[in-house]
Amino acid sequence: MADFLSAYSIQNWLESCPQAYLEGTEYGHQPGENEPEDLLANEVLREDAIRTTVQLVVGEKCALAASSGLINAAPDEGSKCFLATQTLDEARHVEVFTQRLIDLGVKKKDLDETIRRHANPNLVRFAEVLLEKVDKKDFVAGVVGQNIVLEGMAFSVFEMLKAVTDAVNPKFAHTLAGTIADERRHVGFGENRIGSLIKQHPERKPEIEQMQKDMSYHMLATFAASFRNNPAREQIEQVKEGMRESGVNAEYHGANLSELSPEEMEGVLSDTVLEEFKVRLGRIGIDYQTPARP
Ligand SMILES: [Fe+2]
Ligand SMILES: [Fe+2]
Repeated sequence: MADFLSAYSIQNWLESCPQAYLEGTEYGHQPGENEPEDLLANEVLREDAIRTTVQLVVGEKCALAASSGLINAAPDEGSKCFLATQTLDEARHVEVFTQRLIDLGVKKKDLDETIRRHANPNLVRFAEVLLEKVDKKDFVAGVVGQNIVLEGMAFSVFEMLKAVTDAVNPKFAHTLAGTIADERRHVGFGENRIGSLIKQHPERKPEIEQMQKDMSYHMLATFAASFRNNPAREQIEQVKEGMRESGVNAEYHGANLSELSPEEMEGVLSDTVLEEFKVRLGRIGIDYQTPARP
C-alpha cells in the first residue's frame, strides 16, 4: 500500500505533471502554436474538427463528473487524493478541448449550443451508464467504468488522433500528448486500486460485467457514427492522399492510417480498444463481455 500511495500521491502528481510535461504549456500546447491555416480556411474540414472536438469535450465532461463524484465514494484516503488530482486533470481536459473549439472559430456564446448539436447520442448514453453508478456512490463499478472503460477508450482515441495529426497539426498533437500522459496515469490507478476490491466483493462481478458490455456497445456505436457517412469524407481522403504523397507515416498499431479507408480505421480502433479492455479487465479479475456490433 505504501508504494501505491506514493505512486498516486498529490506530491507525485505535482512532480510528474504540472512541474514536468505541462510546464510552460498554454492550454496544453506550446505558446504561439495555432490551428493550421488550411484547416481554418476549409469550411468542411473545420466543421469536421469541431464535431470531433465536441466528442472529446463530452467524454471529458463525463470524466470530470465521474472522478469528482467518486471522491466521496472512495473507501480510503489514498484513493481520495488520487481522485482529487484526476478531477483537476479532467477539468483541464474539458478546458483545453473547449479552448480548441474557440480556436476553431466557435464563439463563446455558441459553445453550449454547438456541443448540444454535435454531441453523439451514443456517447451521451455511454456517459449516462457510467454516471448512474457514480450517482449511487458505487465506487467499484464507478472506477471500472471510468478508469478502465472510459479512459481505455479515451486513451486509444487520443493516440489515433495524435497519429493522424502529428505531421499536419503540431498544436493539436501537443495538446493530445499531454492528455495521453494523464490518461495513462488514470488507467494505471484503476487497475492497481480495483483488483483487490473485486477480490473482496466477487458478488459485484455480474453487474460490473454488464456495465462493461453496455458501455462497450455505446462506444462502438459512437465510432460507427463517426467513421461511416462522415460528411467530410471526401476532404479527409484528400488530406490522407497529401500525407501519402509527402511520405508521412501515420503509424498506429502497425498500420499507416493514411492508407486505410474510414471503415478500416474504425475496425482498427474498435479492435484495439476492445483488446485493451480484455487485458485490463482480466488483470483485475473481471470477465470481459463481448458487446453486440452496431
Ligand atoms: Fe480526460
Ligand atoms: Fe482521465
